[in-house]
Amino acid sequence: MSAIHTLAARVLRTLEPEKAHRLAILGLKVGLGPRGGADDPVLATSIAGLDMPNPVGLAPGFDKDAEVFAPMLQAGFGFVECGTVTPRPQVGNPRPRLFRLTEDRAVINRMGFNNHGLEAFAGRLAKRGPGVVGANIGANKDTEDRAADYVAGLTRLWGQASYFTINISSPNTPGLRALQTKAALEDLLGRLAEARDALPAQGAAPMFLKVAPDLEDGEVETIVDTCVVHGLAGVIVSNTTISRPALRSKFRDEAGGLSGAPLTELSTQMLARFSQAAAGRLELIGAGGVGSGAEAYAKIRAGARAVQLYSALVYEGPGLVTRIKRDLAARLRADGFRSVKAAVGAR
Ligand code: FNR
Repeated sequence: MSAIHTLAARVLRTLEPEKAHRLAILGLKVGLGPRGGADDPVLATSIAGLDMPNPVGLAPGFDKDAEVFAPMLQAGFGFVECGTVTPRPQVGNPRPRLFRLTEDRAVINRMGFNNHGLEAFAGRLAKRGPGVVGANIGANKDTEDRAADYVAGLTRLWGQASYFTINISSPNTPGLRALQTKAALEDLLGRLAEARDALPAQGAAPMFLKVAPDLEDGEVETIVDTCVVHGLAGVIVSNTTISRPALRSKFRDEAGGLSGAPLTELSTQMLARFSQAAAGRLELIGAGGVGSGAEAYAKIRAGARAVQLYSALVYEGPGLVTRIKRDLAARLRADGFRSVKAAVGAR
């Protein structure tokens, strides 16, 4: 089974990237995805009260419109994050806007929150079965009041998503990352907390903030403190980078966010800084360049309770998640850890 999916991923890589992505979604929708099988009990974990069979999640951007969370859970991901969804449907930036940097095992994207909008997303999420499915919410490009868009996402999806991610770190919506600065973040999280506290306790779901890996000294502490004050459950570190480490591919100078192998170190270092600043007050999820069990394990030891990945799937296909989990379980056992939680922050 795994060989077939590795082959399928290889065939898809010969196509234009966005076409390949669309075909992958279609294949998953008609049931061609892999089946992951039962997880090793050492991998069971929980984050913000959500129990998951393993700590390897699908990062947002792959399933922007909540079309394939069920087959991706079945493929073996411990949780799936859908989105980013904006209140109104949006076409995103002109194509081409997605590039494979094959020599670098990386991706550059400037999609710009292309998505079918909140109504379509909510309709699909309402039909979900068991498993942890998060909703990553954002703002429309042409919105007047960005915070109001996030509040609309939270309100509309309340009771349907297992958790919410407030995405203020995409580099492809002009001005979005400015929401990471102190006054703007204070306003945004204040308004979200107010909305959350007014919603029925029945559908309560934790909120996470997703940050960029390109933060300056001092910004980390401000973000952590603001999240704690407003009762966020945690932070997801990180989104794509606007920095350009040494790259070989011909697409290296394309505008957008870089992800995949060249992001591994940068995002793990940023995660460790958040772990230090949070000092146990927030739960962290690590994303950025996870393509192996060793990289997942490094993020856990840097303070992450769970990890997410996307770019490595482009190169390895969905069978990758099974290989990462097998390797991670072996590493945990070899170091004498009985659970993922026991290894969190054990540098
Ligand atoms: C992304 N990512 C992303 N993140 C997010 O919060 N909302 C989004 O809509 C998207 N869209 C998106 C599209 C594409 C094509 C890529 C490659 C990435 C970022 C993603 O979730 C993740 O944070 C980074 O890509 C780092 O992880 P990987 O890809 O290195 O494993």
